[in-house]
Amino acid sequence: MQIITEPEELQTFCLNERCAQRKIGFVPTMGYYHEAHLSLMRWARENCQTLVVSLFVNPSQFGPGEDFESYPRDFERDRELAVSEGVDVLFVPDTEKMYAENHSTWISVPALSEGLCGKSRPHHFQGVCTVVCKLLNLALPHVAVFGRKDWQQLAIVKRMARDLNLPVQIEGRPIVREQDGLAMSSRNIYLSDRERSEACQIYAGLLKAREWFEQGVRDSSELLDNLRDFYKNNIPSGQIDYLEVVHPEEMNTLHRINGAALLAVAIKIGKARLIDNILLEG
Ligand code: PAJ
Repeated sequence: MQIITEPEELQTFCLNERCAQRKIGFVPTMGYYHEAHLSLMRWARENCQTLVVSLFVNPSQFGPGEDFESYPRDFERDRELAVSEGVDVLFVPDTEKMYAENHSTWISVPALSEGLCGKSRPHHFQGVCTVVCKLLNLALPHVAVFGRKDWQQLAIVKRMARDLNLPVQIEGRPIVREQDGLAMSSRNIYLSDRERSEACQIYAGLLKAREWFEQGVRDSSELLDNLRDFYKNNIPSGQIDYLEVVHPEEMNTLHRINGAALLAVAIKIGKARLIDNILLEG
């Protein structure tokens, strides 16, 4: 596995791979790997000839007071895991190399970024779009792979790629969960034992809501009121940031569920803000 730290060097490497007709798969990450990151790498490994992974904790997607400084990092462990997944290139740039001192260009997709996570993290998706677009311009992949845990991020990146005619296929992959259902996240390490035991109720609640949906509930506020009660009873130390039914591509609120709908939740438990979602489709 090659480790590349210079943006231009990655671009040159990937241009050569493209010229040699090798299909490039790309997985952008912020590191501290768990099974979900590895599942994205595995999918790309199986479906592409060259596998490029980026490891960059992108400062521009963290707001003031968020956990940029304390975001978990373990480069040695990540490096070993990437080797064992057959990664060809691990791209690990310095912040100064990714953002010039007078960096002035930002990409945003306001229509999809204002709700859900965008409400409490106002500049988050602008930071995500900008770094993802930059990374795509460096890795020049045929396919870029994202997880559905960050559904809104995936929807926004898909829209950006379509609107800007980026020559890349954006591939969404399923949520990977712990045995008790908690969606894997690098931030799960912030949870104490007690908080961790409550956190698995986030997914239990989403499954309950899907049952109610399958029993015929189509009114979003009925579904959400019941689910809010479930969370109050089962996650006493949790604080709901949002709980919403939205259109899975447009991200706007749905008051009634007619076609497919996304039920999305963010809950703060202790120091961790955890997100999860489930698709409701008739
Ligand atoms: P990060 O949080 O490291 O996540 C990297 C990728 O792993 C994302 O596509 C995310 O959706 C996916 N992922 C994380 N946990 C998952 C889970 N439990 N199941 C399925 N997929 C999961 O997301 C980012 O980094 C950044 O915003 C990034 C796209 C790299 C831009 O900086």
